[in-house]
Amino acid sequence: MKPLVLIGPMGSGKSEVARILSSSLERPLADTDEMVERANSRSVSQIFHEIGEPAFRGLESRALREALSDPTAVIAAGGGIVLDPLNADLVKKKARVFYLKVTPETAALRIGNGNGRPLVEGKEVVEEIARIIADREAIYDRAAHHVIDAEREPAAVAESIEQLLQ
Ligand code: S3P
Repeated sequence: MKPLVLIGPMGSGKSEVARILSSSLERPLADTDEMVERANSRSVSQIFHEIGEPAFRGLESRALREALSDPTAVIAAGGGIVLDPLNADLVKKKARVFYLKVTPETAALRIGNGNGRPLVEGKEVVEEIARIIADREAIYDRAAHHVIDAEREPAAVAESIEQLLQ
């Protein structure tokens, strides 16, 4: 058995879909943002502001390795985790990777005003998400084994992932 890893931009529904999959497959849930927050007793936003993005990237890479050590885990990966080629190679090798693909409009609707998301906080959310998706699209595509239409409700997205596992 291999861990399942969900990748994609913020607002693609990774956390919610991972929660559904974890419960229906009865496999443990790991969310790298939550792991980093727990380990550092601070929110992702606070970490970005206090120690900066590069240091945050180190912490989330460590959380990813810890999560991947359980072959049964369902992992919601922070949206920037596969920007590091080492992480992209690692998940591709050790896990089944699903890229939840969404339009910037759908992602922006889910994110709302971007509170708690340091990369879009205080910015024009839909424009910023569109820029992030355009920059990362090829990276997400390359890191994934499967590309999943995540415009749909999280339950439908989870269902199509489960079908691919059969
Ligand atoms: C980030 C996505 C966030 C969080 C951090 C950076 C990114 O996670 O890790 O704000 O670079 O896309 P979610 O994708 O879970 O929102």
